[in-house]
Amino acid sequence: MNRRYYITTPIYYINDVPHIGHAYTTCAADVMARYKRICGYDVFFLTGVDEYGQKAEKAALAQGITPQELADRMVPTFTDLWSILNVSNTGFVRTTGADHKKVVQYLFEKIRNKGDIYLGEYEGWYCIPCETYFTELQAKDGTCPDCGRPLERLKEESYFFRMSSYGEPLLRHLEEIRDFVMPDIRFNEVASFVKGGLRDLSISRTTFTWGIPVPGDARHVIYVWFDALANYLTGIGFQTDMERFEQYWPCDAHLIGKDILRFHAVYWPSFLMSAGLPLPCHVFAHGWWTVEGQKMSKSVGNVVDPAGVVKEFGADEFRFFLFREVPFGLDGDFSKEAIKARINGDLANDFGNLVSRSANMIGKFLAGRVGGPDKAGGTDAHLLERIEAHIADYEREMAVFSFYKALGAVFEITALLNRYIDTEAPWKLAKEDPGRVPTVLYNVWNGVRIAALLLYPFMPAKTAQVWKALGIGKAIEKASFEEEKRFYLAGDLAPIEKVAPIFPRIEV
Ligand code: MSP
Repeated sequence: MNRRYYITTPIYYINDVPHIGHAYTTCAADVMARYKRICGYDVFFLTGVDEYGQKAEKAALAQGITPQELADRMVPTFTDLWSILNVSNTGFVRTTGADHKKVVQYLFEKIRNKGDIYLGEYEGWYCIPCETYFTELQAKDGTCPDCGRPLERLKEESYFFRMSSYGEPLLRHLEEIRDFVMPDIRFNEVASFVKGGLRDLSISRTTFTWGIPVPGDARHVIYVWFDALANYLTGIGFQTDMERFEQYWPCDAHLIGKDILRFHAVYWPSFLMSAGLPLPCHVFAHGWWTVEGQKMSKSVGNVVDPAGVVKEFGADEFRFFLFREVPFGLDGDFSKEAIKARINGDLANDFGNLVSRSANMIGKFLAGRVGGPDKAGGTDAHLLERIEAHIADYEREMAVFSFYKALGAVFEITALLNRYIDTEAPWKLAKEDPGRVPTVLYNVWNGVRIAALLLYPFMPAKTAQVWKALGIGKAIEKASFEEEKRFYLAGDLAPIEKVAPIFPRIEV
């Protein structure tokens, strides 16, 4: 098996502060990165910022600073947020970096030498905020089909990429690799777009200067999406550290939002094919968050600041909410009521309470020491079997980014364990059948330990606390999934005592 794994987020525009949408993709990539690491993979997890383009130039101008100053000022708002959210990225690309410029110009030249770039003239309806041209059909009411703002008629000399040559090969690829674009509904969207025929793509601009110059023709800057997509190569050392590049490319998964699917699933593979580079394995497009039923927008003033949510509810609680509330791939709605309900229900009542009562009982009935199952008291094969089935479900769902279903499997386990404790009632057994208590609590201890392991990618800090409460000395982020997903008898536990609630209830 190939034990390396490369996952990316989009690189975020620096003209705006990060919001829940940015946090969503980045946390999703972090969940996967952490999961793959405990599964033994050598993971490269890349994120970064997209600094060039007309939007950044305009935003800087409005503030009376240079776009570079704006970018330098904005980068910490992203990196600070990632550290607040416990994001474990291994790389961070800035598109204004010298390494990135080298990559973009190299890629441009490589594609030009292949004969896939020519100089032409472009005229069309252009949306400045979205930096996208639209066809007559799309622009029929004079406003941008994506953001609704007025379009401008622009004409400029432009370099074009022969994307029309890549429709056929791309269709063949889509037919062969059914999960190239995930989930299915996005696959269908891409396939029908490609079937409609691809047109050549304008990949340079002369109307502004904040970008990477076209090699040999400084009147043009390279189209921001050509530049931005190449970050996935820059981040792992393309042209600067080819050994590292060879180790991680092709990328396993580009995680993105549904709005930027076409760039990733049509343009990007076309550029790569032209440059003779292998294609990424998966492009996964997730849905969008609304806020209390409304589209998030600055003018409505309902943009959710992730740092504020973390301050109020906690980083792990926020991360958990994002993936427990809505199937990854569908749209979802954010509200404080919803996050409170998740915290009080799933975390405080179900999982948190399970942890507390388990630790308490081990403290009280076994003097804090988990022993082996007493064969005379039965081994409860049935419970074990059901837990194993849920673990298998979890693994299957995680493999296809179905975080929602994976979490569903974990909460089957917690419900099972809570019921098991209720029916076995160790407090009664202690009086009536004390020989069985060690068996029951051995099962409970293992079950809770495994539930925490499965929750670890979502809640790295809280699950570390749970393991500590269970007397486990080793760090959960260094755990081996294969070893830890089995029931075992641990010899080296710290004494287990009553613990303060790890997920306190929130007043509603
Ligand atoms: N710079 C480009 C990406 C280049 S990648 C080679 C860009 N940046 S962005 O900052 O505008 O947005 C990045 C991500 O935020 C996208 O994946 C987008 O889907 C996501 N979201 C923006 N608003 C969102 C919601 N309301 N909900 C969920 N995700 C959303 O695009």
